[in-house]
Amino acid sequence: MFHAPIVPRVRKRSRPAEADVPRREEVKFEDVRLYLVERKMGRSRRSFLTQLAKSKGFIVEDVLSDEVTHVVSEDSHASSLWKWLKECAPKNLKNLNVLDISWFTDSMREGRPVAVETRHLIQDNLPTLPEGSTSTPVTTVSQYACQRRTTTENHNKIFTDAFEVLAESYEFSEMEGPCLAFRRAASVLKSLPWAVRCLGATQDLPCLGEHTKAVMEEVLQCGRSFEVEKILSDERYQTLKLFTSVFGVGPKTAEKWYRRGLRSFTEILADRSIHLNRMQQNGFLHYGDITRAVSKAEARSLRTIIDEAVRAITPAAILALTGGFRRGKEFGHDVDFIVTTPELGKEKSLLPNIINGLKKQGILLFCDYQASTFDMAKLPSYRFEAMDHFAKCFLILRLEASQVEGGLHSAEGDSRGWRAVRVDLVSPPVDRYAFALLGWTGSRQFERDLRRFARVKQQMILDNHCLYDKTKVSAALDSQQLELIP
Ligand code: CTP
Ligand code: MN
Ligand code: MN
Repeated sequence: MFHAPIVPRVRKRSRPAEADVPRREEVKFEDVRLYLVERKMGRSRRSFLTQLAKSKGFIVEDVLSDEVTHVVSEDSHASSLWKWLKECAPKNLKNLNVLDISWFTDSMREGRPVAVETRHLIQDNLPTLPEGSTSTPVTTVSQYACQRRTTTENHNKIFTDAFEVLAESYEFSEMEGPCLAFRRAASVLKSLPWAVRCLGATQDLPCLGEHTKAVMEEVLQCGRSFEVEKILSDERYQTLKLFTSVFGVGPKTAEKWYRRGLRSFTEILADRSIHLNRMQQNGFLHYGDITRAVSKAEARSLRTIIDEAVRAITPAAILALTGGFRRGKEFGHDVDFIVTTPELGKEKSLLPNIINGLKKQGILLFCDYQASTFDMAKLPSYRFEAMDHFAKCFLILRLEASQVEGGLHSAEGDSRGWRAVRVDLVSPPVDRYAFALLGWTGSRQFERDLRRFARVKQQMILDNHCLYDKTKVSAALDSQQLELIP
């Protein structure tokens, strides 16, 4: 699965010169690697203590790397030290000795690393311990989706379904705040490996506010939420939900039609004053097929079809399944692929050629191609959740039943032997491949939180194109020289 923290750690750019020259001091304790925390200690004292330890045969690391076994700090605020460690420590902190200076002075006096005693330890006195810790049943659930391990198994569907209705209803009313709050809450509950059975169980969970808890309480007591029921029976909600289910119809268009008094597809299609664009026309034309979920077997078959179309153009091309199916979902609303060429620049003609190939095969039912507007010089974009600039196309393809293992995921009684399926292709330059793959894997909440995490916790800006060091970007914007992390 794809849910481990991804943002790379910022490392010091220049390693101290002494790291490159052979140590003058003889190493006596190979198995012990110290790291002295500069905070509170100060640079000159740290440097002095480093030399002292090295002269006694200790290895002292400059960087808090995987090799470090003993972290020594003079910071008396355990919570701030642990907070810092959790943010930048390289591995599971369980195996790390986090010690106060008394262990260091004892060891220097003895001329060897003394055994770690309880009095040396700087305890993590936060109410919760990092994931994987066995000493307490409570584990921290991060407020960031990208810091949570989430499987495709949802133990809290009764709540998350309710939250989704509420989020959608707020979305229709253009109330972004509460909409996002319910999406966040749903994401947190989806990450739990257990079902919430009483409200008390949620007390240590982030992102659950008064309103979400009130809804949960109702669901727990009555098996349903009256607020949700009310929304579901609301005419405006039902109509907007129906209209936005058409490919190419967003909340704005749906609202416009609703305001005109239209309530059904028949009314829309009969209204001569309404002009449907090509996407919407095809949305109606293939409505039954493309609103039906795409199965994993169908996605696999489409992969083969796209792969063959791509290989016919350039055998060395790179093709990857992305979106929900990359996350391991059983069903999706479409199938997403990233396609590019190993040679930079050659990707430019790729999508038009693939589209042509699909057309020749007679399986291209609809294509909306958007050429690339990617320009490294215009980055980064501060627009939140803005679409990326890569070449892409939104397709509807004809999929034959004979090409799908186990047959199509079709409506009962459908004997056509084929169905229409939505497929998205995105084609970044190969040096942007990793960012595009990360950005298109989703979920939307995961991506949103990954960006927020990068911004808030790492002082970086992440988008589908790049990762930027925020501390360098503002100065660099003036000089027009962005420091990009490859
Ligand atoms: N995405 C994007 N830019 C777009 C379209 C999509 O960055 N122009 C990203 C979305 O943020 C999402 C991923 O691509 O993370 C896949 O989008 P989508 O197919 O809409 O959602 P899935 O997660 O694949 O869900 P489903 O299985 O329903 O298709
Ligand atoms: Mn998808
Ligand atoms: Mn998609």
